[in-house]
Order: sequence, then C-alpha cells, then structure tokens
Amino acid sequence: MLGDFFGEGLLISEGGKWLKDRSAIQPSFACEQIQAFGESMAQQTVDHTSDWSLGETRDVLLDMQALTMKIAADTLLGVRLYEEVEAIHDPHEIIRRNFERRKENLLVAPRWVPTPWNRKVSSAIHSIRKIVDSLIATRRSTGQLGPDILSRLMSAQKNHAAGMTDEHLRNQAITFLFAGHETTASMLAWVWYLLAENPETGKRLYAELDSVLNGRLPTIADVPQLKFTEQIINETLRLYPSADAFSRSAIADCAVAGFRIPQGTTMVMSPWVMQRDEQFFDEPLAFRPERWTPDFQKNLDQSSWFAFGAGPRICIGKSFAMMEFVLIVATIASRYRLGLVPNQQIKPHASVTIRPGSSRQCNRSNLKH
Ligand code: HEM
Repeated sequence: MLGDFFGEGLLISEGGKWLKDRSAIQPSFACEQIQAFGESMAQQTVDHTSDWSLGETRDVLLDMQALTMKIAADTLLGVRLYEEVEAIHDPHEIIRRNFERRKENLLVAPRWVPTPWNRKVSSAIHSIRKIVDSLIATRRSTGQLGPDILSRLMSAQKNHAAGMTDEHLRNQAITFLFAGHETTASMLAWVWYLLAENPETGKRLYAELDSVLNGRLPTIADVPQLKFTEQIINETLRLYPSADAFSRSAIADCAVAGFRIPQGTTMVMSPWVMQRDEQFFDEPLAFRPERWTPDFQKNLDQSSWFAFGAGPRICIGKSFAMMEFVLIVATIASRYRLGLVPNQQIKPHASVTIRPGSSRQCNRSNLKH
C-alpha cells in the first residue's frame, strides 16, 4: 500500500537492491554523523516554537509534524523547508487517508482504476514528487556535498552507480522525508498528551531539565545526562509505538513457537500487542517511565519490546529518532508547559502511524509558561 508513494525507496525495496541501498546509506547514520545533526534539531525546535504564546490553544500534532519535517529535510536531505511544509500538508493527508481506506475496506477499487478518489490520490502523489524534485534541484544547484543522505546518493549517481536513476533518488528522498518525520511526530504528540495527563511525571522531568540545563538550550553532550527524559520516551514508545504492526513473508517452510509456517505465509508482528502484554510488563497499561531502570533494560526480552523492529531491517533511523526525541522534548519542556484542553476524548487512531485522535479536534493543547 505504501509502495505507490515510496516507490522502491529503502522501506519498500527487497533483496539485492535493498542491501545495496542500505549499505550505501548506513554510513549517514553512524554515531558521529548523527551527533552532527543535534544542533539543527535543537535550533529548529527553538525557531519553530518561538511564536507560541501564553494561554494559546494549538494543535500539537500539526506542530510536531511541521517541526519534524523541517528537521528531516535539513539533516537528511540538506535543504531548508519554508512554505513547502504547508504545500505538502494537504497532499500528504490524502495519501494518509488513502492508506486508511485501503487498510479498512477490501472493496476499494484498485489504484489503477480511474475513480475520482484514485485520481485525487495520483494528483497528491504527483504534487509531492514535484516538491521533492525541486528540493533535489535546489540541493544540486549548490554543488556542495555534506553528510546528508541526499549527498551520498547524489555522489553515487555521479559515479554512475548502476540503478541510481533520478526516479530512484527521488524515491529515497521521499522515503526519508516521510519515514523520518511521520513516526516521530506521532510519538511526540503522545509524549505531550501523557505529560499533561501525568503531572507528577512532568514535575520530575522539569526538575531534571532545571538541574542539567539550568535554562540553556540542550546540546548533544547533555543527552546522556537527560536520563529521565529518555525514560519518558521509552515508555511512550512502549504504549504508543508509532509503527503498530509490520509483516514478513516466510521465504521457506519453517516453524515458529511450534506452529508450522508454510513458505509464502505472511506473518504480522505487533509491538502494540506485545508491549501491552502483562507477561512482559507489570501494569502494562500504566504510564510508568520509572520502570526503565538500567536493570530493567538489561533484562528486557528483546522480542517483547521492538518499537523500531529487529533484525537486518531494523529501523535505520533508530538512533537519529532517539536523539531527536530527547533534544525536542528537553527544548520544549524547559520553555513551555502544555496542558490538555478539557473535555476531549483522546483515542489512538491507527493510520500509517498510531496517532492521537483526529488531530484537529482532539489534540489541542493549552500553553502555560
Ligand atoms: C518513532 C520513531 C520511529 C519508529 C517507531 C520507527 C519504526 C520503524 C520500524 C518498526 C521499522 C521496521 C519495519 C519492518 O521491519 O518492516 C522501520 C524501518 C525504517 N525506518 Fe523507522 N521508525 C522511526 C523513525 C525513523 C526515522 C527518524 C527515520 C529516518 C531518519 C526512519 C527511517 C526508516 C527507514 C528508511 C526504514 C526502512 C529500513 C530498511 O528496511 O532497511 N525511521 N522504522
């Protein structure tokens, strides 16, 4: 369902093509490369939130989407986004709704049938491709190469690497722009919701931020000290894993936990189910960041917590996302207090990611300094 949009980008490709691309892109996610992105993450957060004001009501999911998209574009593609964020919003919503419709309803006409809805989806995909093409053209026109993925792929293309067509370059750019912001935005919206619902956790977070940062902006050097901040993130990812389920096809007959799995069977794994199972977590539905002690993490069964997947296809952006979360949460929480507008029902909504309610009505927050 996502292939239409991502083409054969890293999330979708298989076999030799995937391995070649993963090996080419992996160095962009080496520890020292990711650390170089820290400054942009904190600074973009300050810029994005600079016009938030006391008592204002905002849609926090939309805010987190715009912020994480700007960070993904700057760090992964080496381009700054301005009015593009607005321009991407509507077509992206159509693509997201199309995914939901197809997931929920087997009777939707296949994408190649020219129904009015399918034409709308094609036009949305076309708009995003046009925007991304122009971002790539801007990046090319600077002639400079940096540590970002786009630079790596463009230099591979210059060296005439087989298969690196303009279309493939665009598919990878779309993959990283969207896989790199949609997941993180949903997850951050849940953090603000859980903090608003659990004031004691909030107090402990603010105390940690005061003692480590003392009013200044967080830097990458602060991340290891912001331990409780990270615990909040782990616990949020446990309760609301952005990717609630993903699948594998058996490439040969095999057995899993005593069940015979014939070749070609599709198996679905769900962090949402496993991470809310009392076999693995005490009081599984309670939000308890304090459970994430070093001992707890050491003894955690790796097959019960896998918000970022596992094995060779584990999320390539895992360390990037974890650092981004700490820096964004620390930057915002040391400047603002977000409270929930009363009388709302916030419910998880399974879209491409698990997001809070339907954003506009359900996730508005009241800002208090
Ligand atoms: C809350 C944050 C995130 C979560 C929960 C998450 C989750 C996942 C999961 C579960 C997979 C594996 C899917 C599978 O095995 O079929 C995956 C793959 C992937 N993720 Fe993430 N992700 C997050 C953030 C990011 C970020 C920030 C980026 C980009 C920087 C990213 C890029 C990707 C890509 C490209 C893949 C495909 C990797 C491959 O197949 O080689 N993700 N992600």
